[in-house]
Amino acid sequence: MKHTAIINLDAPGPKISKHIYGHFAEHLGRCIYDGFYVGDSDTIPHKKGLRLDVIEAFKNLNIPNLRWPGGCFADEYHWKDGIGPKEQRPEMINTHWGGVVENNHFGTHEFMDLCEELETEPYITGNLGSGSVHEMSQWVEYLTFDGKSPMTELRQKNGRDKPWKVKYWGVGNENWGCGGGMTGEFYADQARRYATYCRSYGDNTLYKIACGPNSDDYNWMEAVMKSMVYCPAGLPADRFVRGVSLHYYTIAGTWEEKGKALEDDRNKWLQIMKRSWFMEELITRHSAVMDRYDPEKKIGMIVDEWGTWHQVEEGTNPGFLYQQNSIRDALSASLQLDIFHNHADRVYMANLAQAVNVLQSPVLTEGDKMILTPTYHVLEMNKEHMDADSLPVFLDTADHKSESEGKEFSTLSMSASRKGKSYLVSMTNLDPEKGKTVTLDLRGEKIGEIKARILSGQRLNSHNSFESPEAVKPEDFRDFELKGTTMEINLPARSFVTFSF
Ligand code: AHR
Repeated sequence: MKHTAIINLDAPGPKISKHIYGHFAEHLGRCIYDGFYVGDSDTIPHKKGLRLDVIEAFKNLNIPNLRWPGGCFADEYHWKDGIGPKEQRPEMINTHWGGVVENNHFGTHEFMDLCEELETEPYITGNLGSGSVHEMSQWVEYLTFDGKSPMTELRQKNGRDKPWKVKYWGVGNENWGCGGGMTGEFYADQARRYATYCRSYGDNTLYKIACGPNSDDYNWMEAVMKSMVYCPAGLPADRFVRGVSLHYYTIAGTWEEKGKALEDDRNKWLQIMKRSWFMEELITRHSAVMDRYDPEKKIGMIVDEWGTWHQVEEGTNPGFLYQQNSIRDALSASLQLDIFHNHADRVYMANLAQAVNVLQSPVLTEGDKMILTPTYHVLEMNKEHMDADSLPVFLDTADHKSESEGKEFSTLSMSASRKGKSYLVSMTNLDPEKGKTVTLDLRGEKIGEIKARILSGQRLNSHNSFESPEAVKPEDFRDFELKGTTMEINLPARSFVTFSF
């Protein structure tokens, strides 16, 4: 199949916020314990309990932020249980995730240490569902207040003299569901109240994020936006919150009977790709609602949970959401990242769910072993898009459609950006069997040497395992030719390719 695309290299669009490459670590299964934190293990190398191999892997991605402690866990987490001497921290039951005992050994100080090691910004979600306004307000004070106060004295007693910098603050999570089963209107009123008492101390200005909708619940978005921007006495529209979240997971099959992570199944492949494209519709339609209340686009869309959700791997705890990760997940991710890039005017942050050992993880661990998944490689190949200026891609999509569930969708996706005179173009061929020839016209600037890389799978379910950790990894790509300003590219089936020049 032949396709054409045009990029005007000298006509940049809005900046792609680096926070689109954010991550998420919940107290769920083996994400925190085993994944990031191994306590005083004498077999796994660590610093203050934080796993060095995992930290190195994420540092290599330059991750911009890490969301914690949940997820559903956030709205039953009481932060004071996770500070002070470990042996004195109370235990609790993690009711959402497997009913296991949480010993609270990983708490506020450990999370902030992790962020320091990762050189990333913390994004903390407060407990609105089952916590109090006072409790949330004190957590912000404990973390960020520089003066003398009961909370700063407590922080100092626990070994941290100076306040930390915490910008991103979630005012609850999924409060339409696990976070309290609220209506949009009720939540919006509560969020205004909680957010009022989460203070910005000194030069620590909070970027507060309201709980937004589940997938296509446009009424929830309407209720939250309407309430957040209503400010008496002409106060600024972003007084309460500066971001509203959106959660969307891609599944094959139904929620009750999800597909498996390593299925070698053409129909399920197409279903995953079609449902990944649904992110485009969600962002467009939620943006339209947001535009009504915030035409200047001051309020960011925060897609703080996204990714594929499959059946758990056989023999693992169903409450731990541990799944393998194949080239299919990687291409679902590269497509959705294109969608975020192409909506850089509204999407300010996105957090792949979740970082280690849970759902669509870039990193999996087993004892002292660690592997990088195909999804990890997409993030690494794309990292120069962070904080670059987006470049609109004019793509002829007439001839590369496929079909699933009675709907057609494009099997070619692209996005591009530039930083100064450096360019990155990302291209995904979602077709399960056919290659594509793309003629790409690069206009407006002189093109230097092109470095190209490819990630592809020999099968629909190609993946890395602990026995074969490098079965899917980026390789140099040479199947293209540059003639003047035009590139002729042969994209193999099931592939993700990046061009840097
Ligand atoms: O990421 C797993 C769970 O999915 C999160 O805890 C919750 O917010 C969502 O439903």
